[in-house]
Amino acid sequence: MKISIVGLGYVGLVTLAVMAELGHDVVGLDIDKNKILGLKSGKIPIYEPGLSKMLEKNKERISYSDSYECIKGSKYSFICVPTPTVNERIDVHFVIDAGKEINNVDSKTNIVIKSTVIPGTARKLSEEIDRGIISNPEFLREGNALKDTMAPDRVVVGGNKVEEFAKIWEFTKSPILITSNENAELIKYASNSFLATKISFINQIADLCEKIPNADVKVIERGMGLDKRIGMEFLKAGTGFGGSCFPKDTKALVSFSEDLGISLSIVKSTIDYNEKRIPIIVNKLKKIITQKNSKILILGLSFKDNTDDIRESKSLELIRNLELEGYRDIWAYDPVVTKVEGIRLISDLDSAIEDSEYIIVATEWPLFSEKLQFVNDRHIIDLRRVLEPVKTKLDYGVGLYFKD
Ligand code: UGA
Repeated sequence: MKISIVGLGYVGLVTLAVMAELGHDVVGLDIDKNKILGLKSGKIPIYEPGLSKMLEKNKERISYSDSYECIKGSKYSFICVPTPTVNERIDVHFVIDAGKEINNVDSKTNIVIKSTVIPGTARKLSEEIDRGIISNPEFLREGNALKDTMAPDRVVVGGNKVEEFAKIWEFTKSPILITSNENAELIKYASNSFLATKISFINQIADLCEKIPNADVKVIERGMGLDKRIGMEFLKAGTGFGGSCFPKDTKALVSFSEDLGISLSIVKSTIDYNEKRIPIIVNKLKKIITQKNSKILILGLSFKDNTDDIRESKSLELIRNLELEGYRDIWAYDPVVTKVEGIRLISDLDSAIEDSEYIIVATEWPLFSEKLQFVNDRHIIDLRRVLEPVKTKLDYGVGLYFKD
């Protein structure tokens, strides 16, 4: 089949690679001319394990363009454009515009919305161009994107007469849920908001553990997670949730609900607590790092491990808050992020550890625990609980008893 992908961000590029891997002829469209030029010369704009390899392997079946003309003759056109937040509300105009452009070039291609959109968006586009739209929300995680796309927990497809389209995902052998556009759109928001709620919940339990001698949130996570009804996933205490999805999607769901007269108070407090998470941690760090001129090393700058994405990164928020508190000598190391405006980055991890007084683990790269597990002559602060307190002496670990 000929398939086109409109918008080559994380979701777009990963969908493109997987569709090509399945043997389809795929064309990737983006209005960013530089991105297209880069992709044509093999430059992948994001760090995602396995993606470059998959794109390279299937390059015979992949082409790129910055003009909508390229989608002509596609059986399916996936819309993967961004849905930014404007005044706390999600702005879907890129999705609607892309749908109209696709329709102008080829009124036969089946339009599939993959971008995260509020319920009613597919219907709105459908009414504007007078044809059915397929909703196919994406559930991939950055850093795990190919595995999540090839073997998702489930596939959700919304719309009328979408059975033929759904076959495209049969190779995953995952359950495929066929439903209305609105249900498909809401499943995505409800899922992300629920996972975010789990994270704020366990972070609050971590705060509680810090008040109880001998309590440890890692044990609580395991004890809770072994209950199948609760599950281990997304129950790890840390710096709070960041990235381009959870912070944005939780807010979009709350404002969308408020417009309909419904208050999602649970999601609201999930957001509120997440916004307080770094200030809460910094208040504790102030009691440990008493000298403002101490040399502090931050390990990890992205919003989580296995990615170079720094959008809504809690690690960057931590650095900014520490600086506001007057700490003057902060530097950072990250395995894949090489440049961030205003941040002093060091490329040699060993000498950075050697030369720092305080080392703060801010993301979960396995490299950090490997390097630090036997370091016992530095002050170590573990905000992701990647180190075992029995092996490494911690000055502070999230969810470990902390004597004020
Ligand atoms: C998230 C969802 O997990 C995907 O299913 C969804 O497709 C995607 O958003 C999206 O809407 O496009 P992503 O933002 O890539 O994926 O990253 P996650 O792995 O979900 O992590 C989000 C944040 O939560 C990170 O800051 C992470 O460190 C934090 N987190 C995650 C925790 O603090 N504890 C956990 O137990 C899990």
